[in-house]
Amino acid sequence: MDTKQVVADFEDWREVVAQAVELLQQGEVVALPTETVYGLAADAFNAEAVAKIFEVKERPSFDPLIVHIGHKRDLDTIAEIPEELDEIVDQLVEAYWPGPLTLVLPKRPEIPDIVTAGLPTVAVRMSSHEVMRAVAKELPIAAPSANRYGRISPTSADAVMEELGGKIPLIVDGGACRDGLESTIIAPEMTDKGPVLRLLRPGPIAREDLRKIAKVIKPRRKKEDHIEAPGQMESHYAPTTPLLLVEKGGSFVPEEGKRYGLLSYRGEGNSSLVDLTDWAEIEMMSPGKGKLAEGGVRLFYCLRKLDAAGLDLIVAESVSETGVGVAIMDRLRRAASATLK
Ligand code: TXA
Ligand code: MG
Repeated sequence: MDTKQVVADFEDWREVVAQAVELLQQGEVVALPTETVYGLAADAFNAEAVAKIFEVKERPSFDPLIVHIGHKRDLDTIAEIPEELDEIVDQLVEAYWPGPLTLVLPKRPEIPDIVTAGLPTVAVRMSSHEVMRAVAKELPIAAPSANRYGRISPTSADAVMEELGGKIPLIVDGGACRDGLESTIIAPEMTDKGPVLRLLRPGPIAREDLRKIAKVIKPRRKKEDHIEAPGQMESHYAPTTPLLLVEKGGSFVPEEGKRYGLLSYRGEGNSSLVDLTDWAEIEMMSPGKGKLAEGGVRLFYCLRKLDAAGLDLIVAESVSETGVGVAIMDRLRRAASATLK
């Protein structure tokens, strides 16, 4: 298949959106930009179209998708919000939508089972990227990240082309992703003491911010046959090159004759790892001052570059686990654990 890549810029983005909507209405899959990472989209109410997402990504059918809506009022057409959660859901939607927050709620029966992998709940979000939003205003969109299963999420249209070129008809280029990390996923729940937010995946919206709305709690322990958020499966977000995460206080002993790449947070003068060996490649997540948000934006971009450099090993430096740093370390640990398998 020939994959067309079109730029949605100022003058003609409406035309590009119309082109994407037309393909989606015909049951096709299309790659679209969001503020977090690029998504591989299909009509959320068309089970056959959604099946194509799983096929193209080589994603196992037990891993459910996120539904993207264009208006806050559309939430009621996707989820059946229990009365006791009405208030907390309202608060979250007002505070963070459109934006990188995904809510897991009981699903409406009209949502095809393939979208939710048979779960009684559905994940919903409203993206702040104008292209994804304009498309989702026309029809609700099921969309996982636009990478092959288990690989690094794409944060540019070119990265989508590397992942899925030849397999899909259209990639809409809406620029580099502003957040660069997948959305924060939470499941609001009611307890005797009031509402709590179960944090299923850390992301651009930090735990510290969510805490201002309600108590944040950990995901349930996974049972063998029950996956609450398969995005939490360890071997996710992995480069094909082995990756070693040097945790705080940890060390790395280079071997003679190997090609090593360093993923550094701030780079020279700010990391003892920089002087440790003659690195074949160095990528800095946040050159200079060291800002975690910048690190989040650049993480997947840097990993992708290092992965393409023909290295024996990527050595990644830890960042501090506050704010977006929690999501960065989450993704780095998964990438490292994929190496161990
Ligand atoms: O930022 C994002 O969320 C991006 C963009 C494209 O919107 N999407 C994304 O989708 O990261 P994906 O499929 O790569 O990750 C979504 C995660 C999956 O790991 C899935 O396990 C979890 O959301 N999920 C979906 N539905 C769920 C549900 N009903 N209960 C628990 N987890 C769910
Ligand atoms: Mg993904």
